[in-house]
Amino acid sequence: MSAARPRCDETLAWRRLQERFRSEGAAFDLRQAFAQDAGRFERFSQPAPHLFADLSKNLIDAATEQALFSLARETGVEAWRDAMFAGERINNTEQRAVKHWLLRAPRDAGDADSVAVHETLDAMLAYAERVRADAAITDVVNIGIGGSDLGPQMAVAALDAFRKPAQRFHFVSNVDGHELDAVLQRVRPEGTLFLVASKTFTTLETMTNARSARAWFQRQGGRDVARHFAALTTNVEAAREFGVATTFGFWDWVGGRYSLWSAIGLPLAIAVGAQRFRELLAGAHAMDLHFRLEPLERNLPVRLGLLDVWYRDFHGFSSRSIAPYHSALRRLPAYLQQLEMESNGKSVDAHGRPLAFGTSPVLWGEPGTNGQHAYFQMLHQGTDRVPVEFFAVRQAAHALPGHHDLLLANALAQAQALMQGRADAGGHRNFPGNRPSSFFVLETLDPASLGALIALYEHRVFTSGAVWGIDSFDQWGVELGKVLAGDLAQRLASGDTAGLDGSTAGLLRRLRAGRAA
Ligand code: F6P
Repeated sequence: MSAARPRCDETLAWRRLQERFRSEGAAFDLRQAFAQDAGRFERFSQPAPHLFADLSKNLIDAATEQALFSLARETGVEAWRDAMFAGERINNTEQRAVKHWLLRAPRDAGDADSVAVHETLDAMLAYAERVRADAAITDVVNIGIGGSDLGPQMAVAALDAFRKPAQRFHFVSNVDGHELDAVLQRVRPEGTLFLVASKTFTTLETMTNARSARAWFQRQGGRDVARHFAALTTNVEAAREFGVATTFGFWDWVGGRYSLWSAIGLPLAIAVGAQRFRELLAGAHAMDLHFRLEPLERNLPVRLGLLDVWYRDFHGFSSRSIAPYHSALRRLPAYLQQLEMESNGKSVDAHGRPLAFGTSPVLWGEPGTNGQHAYFQMLHQGTDRVPVEFFAVRQAAHALPGHHDLLLANALAQAQALMQGRADAGGHRNFPGNRPSSFFVLETLDPASLGALIALYEHRVFTSGAVWGIDSFDQWGVELGKVLAGDLAQRLASGDTAGLDGSTAGLLRRLRAGRAA
């Protein structure tokens, strides 16, 4: 079916959008838009499972959004979505299906892999409960990188209010030995469970850290590797060779950045328990149903993905800032960076043809209110316009008086200031305003709302990737650096600079200074 997909920039809707941008879009003013349309908030806000989204402070009107829906229809977004949910091999460069959604679907989903998915889930959750009940285990160390780190790390922090207080969680990802060393200094071998998380079980950073952790464990007199190490991987054979007895597998149709829902979620399951983990899956599944079944006009991930196309390819915005107003969501920006930039940071279409338009923006951010005292200056008065995404949680999980309303007031105030601006103070004190933002509201930060939020972003990224006609599920761009690092590791040892460019050779010599040739 991929052969039949029309290029977005060759559609009628694309041309209409170019015209609309020239006639209305470039000069669009949010303040006027609200003044002229009393129903703007209702028109551009909507509930979706477990959350509410206000998109009304974006540079968009009803006619532009209609043209964007036409673009989605002309580029076959719905058919592409249905192909994903039908298990077709839409990851065409790797010839793989894309079925992370199946990991959160009910037992009777009817897919050929449903039984295996639920058997693994049941086994993993039973293991998680045993670890939770094991008073001897005080520390869980997850060793993994990219999707095998960011998802569980983000989610364990986000759901800290639900964590079993007696156990501590550590995440080691970097090959930089400082990171592992710092963790090893804080844990005892007899009290530690190491989880080696790697889809491929070949990733340099993870395997280096796992080998060092195992060597440390044995040096410290730890004997029972089988009890203190478990593996989360699709490469069960390699895990066995490593000496791990307990392995929870998953499948090649789960992309690394979509793997939180699989065995890679084990640290979270240990932290919050089986029931809460199932609630996370159920929240994500509710968003899957929303994405599958709602018409485009009320389909939140679709509306967001189309807005992303409008901003990237017509307004030319090349970055988006993520502003979670909840400190437990502090790793959300990093998580979304991988999700969006590794998925859609491509410059050829699914057939390898160069693209003549922009794809993934840069995502970045920090929790509010910290960001306000760092880079919000640029967001308010800088020369570039950067759409901002605010996340607020209605109910706090603490009882400290006053704080939460101040937090919420700050989120509202920043979004208001970005839009309203200020023209009456003169010179340096003026704010141009008309700066776009979206605002997401969660009732509470709990497993279901977190699951729904993450699935919302997965499908949003799917939507913009489908319009752009790219393969959002491969990541060839990370390969070259891996190959070169292998070569340079040998050259660092030997000092051989033959054939290197002048800069790399010069730096290598400087890094080796004082070593024997
Ligand atoms: O190098 C990129 C990447 O392949 C990511 O897509 C993935 O999440 C990460 O590396 C880790 O891979 P693995 O889980 O196989 O160790």
